Amino acid sequence: MSNDKYPDFVSRFYDVIYDQVRSGTDFNYYLNKILNTKGTVLEIGVGTGRFFIAAIKQGADIYGVDFSENMLEQLKNNLDLKHHDRVEQQDIRQLKLNKKFDLIIAPFRVFSHLIEIDDIIDSLNNICDHLNDDGKFIFDLYVPNLKLIAEGMKDQVEFDGFYEDGKKLKRITSFTTDVSRQVNEIEMKYIWDENDEEHSGTWHFPMRYFFRYELELLVRQSKLTLQHIYGDFEENELNPDSKEFLIVCGK
Ligand SMILES: C[S@@+](CC[C@H](N)C(=O)[O-])C[C@H]1O[C@@H](n2cnc3c(N)ncnc32)[C@H](O)[C@@H]1O
Repeated sequence: MSNDKYPDFVSRFYDVIYDQVRSGTDFNYYLNKILNTKGTVLEIGVGTGRFFIAAIKQGADIYGVDFSENMLEQLKNNLDLKHHDRVEQQDIRQLKLNKKFDLIIAPFRVFSHLIEIDDIIDSLNNICDHLNDDGKFIFDLYVPNLKLIAEGMKDQVEFDGFYEDGKKLKRITSFTTDVSRQVNEIEMKYIWDENDEEHSGTWHFPMRYFFRYELELLVRQSKLTLQHIYGDFEENELNPDSKEFLIVCGK
């Protein structure tokens, strides 16, 4: 099972939150990879187009898929109509496009939404089937923080700011861990101002965490070939302080 619903309040506030809390980490890396690809690029889990929109504006030949209607609607609101046929609603577990790509990316923990082994292997194989012979697949996941897994997280304010002039937005996150399934059960509460009233919405969803050698074995079980697992977006080697797995695969 994987969670297929990004609620509308999550997609609506996605860019304002992640431009602040994530783009400083991964934005330049993926955008440079896209822009330096000679050929066609596919972003899996394209979301609201955090990379896609910037890449299109700079002339990239990029396509995108995502299974969330809400996320794609948000993307299309910011995308010139002439590019709308570059994005479509698809589930990576059954990916089928009539094109092959020189670079496929799945940025920002897309694979954490895949809980079951069969879903992960099917998705890796589908990606392999859509790669040109010298194509690369690059994705990232977080390195599990064992202290957080042991203790969980309670009411962490991850964003406290404004989504428009004078309109407040706050996000508060908690999770507990089911170690037997390698899943964090996450609760994200959004609180925002609208029409002079306070609104709120809460989203519950599972996120799977992965260990280094498990990742290596998963890729080996698939049709892809593992080229490297780096420890950050500067492509430094993994070390005991690494927070990210940056995984590069070929055919
Ligand atoms: C954390 S967001 C990342 C979005 C974008 N790549 C970014 O970096 O801002 C993960 C995205 O993956 C999508 N996703 C999760 N599971 C998927 C699946 N099985 N097939 C297609 N998209 C999926 C979600 O709908 C969501 O838009």
